[in-house]
Amino acid sequence: MNDLDRQLTELQERFGAAVAAAPSAQALDDARVAFLGRNGEVTSVRRSIGTLPPEARPAAGKRINLAVEAMERMLGDAQVRLEARAFETELAQVVDVTYPGIEPPVGTIHPVRRITEQASAYFARHGFAVVVGPEVEPDYYTFDALNIPSDHPAREGFDSFWLTDSLLLRPHTSPMQIRTMQQHRPPVAIIAPGKCYRRDAVDARHLFQFHQIEGLLVAEGVHFGHLKGMLSGLCRELFGPEQQVRFRPSFFPFTEPSAEVDTTCPRCHGHLQRCGMCGGSGWIELGGAGMVHPNVLREVEYDPDVYSGWAFGVGVERLGLTRYGVDDIRRFINSDPDFLEQLR
Ligand code: DAH
Repeated sequence: MNDLDRQLTELQERFGAAVAAAPSAQALDDARVAFLGRNGEVTSVRRSIGTLPPEARPAAGKRINLAVEAMERMLGDAQVRLEARAFETELAQVVDVTYPGIEPPVGTIHPVRRITEQASAYFARHGFAVVVGPEVEPDYYTFDALNIPSDHPAREGFDSFWLTDSLLLRPHTSPMQIRTMQQHRPPVAIIAPGKCYRRDAVDARHLFQFHQIEGLLVAEGVHFGHLKGMLSGLCRELFGPEQQVRFRPSFFPFTEPSAEVDTTCPRCHGHLQRCGMCGGSGWIELGGAGMVHPNVLREVEYDPDVYSGWAFGVGVERLGLTRYGVDDIRRFINSDPDFLEQLR
């Protein structure tokens, strides 16, 4: 090993030690200037080439360049190492990965949807198809085909949002009876859940947009007893195994006879005189029902002498009031996570 070799090896070792010990980017740069800078140690070695015999100079130059390359590699490695260390230090200050996390709020299935799904599943289990239809309907499906001609006073009961002379936001799900029967020959067994709209003033019992579940069964030999059985089953599914169902005489143009459907108060079962849910009557009203009117069957070309059927319509929010013991229907549309969370 000649003098130059020894000198450069020693230089490289010192540089390596300085770089390895550099605690900061600034210290690293100081080392770079001291060794590789314009007036640094490598430059004085280069200058010493002039003292060598001319034929030895090219080899010496090459040897110096190799040393410089090696030192620049050391410098680059040290830079990467320092940056990684700085990042880790910063992380350790900012993020304590052992700290318990913040649980993000998780939503719940809305009660209206849950009841709709549960009722749908119940009817599907009994062979009913679940159908959905348009929320904008012609008056034909909403009224005329359901045995409510334009001069019929029952139209007044449906205070509707009219879009044109003949188009409206459906005020009930009953149009789906007609749509289904026009497309299928009997027997038909469907339920039709969906949104409905009425120009009602909003209060604790009314919304202008709400949900109904319509039910329809038409076949040979269908009678009121089947309806009572299915609705009793639904109430037991939704409210508990003790539920009873009763019918009170009523009127709907599309059914004859017609009935109002009540179920036993799931809170007091008729045992509390001052029950906040049923007012002491022991019964809660669910909706309307009846045997499909012969005029409705004729409208869809079903022979009323051969086929009979029943239909019902219940309000989903009303079912929710009863099921969850809620006193104000507006709570279902206030999007209050604390309230919805309680009904989980
Ligand atoms: N469509 C009626 C309403 O919204 C409810 C109803 C009553 C539906 C009797 C029916 C039925 O299918 O048979 O007030």
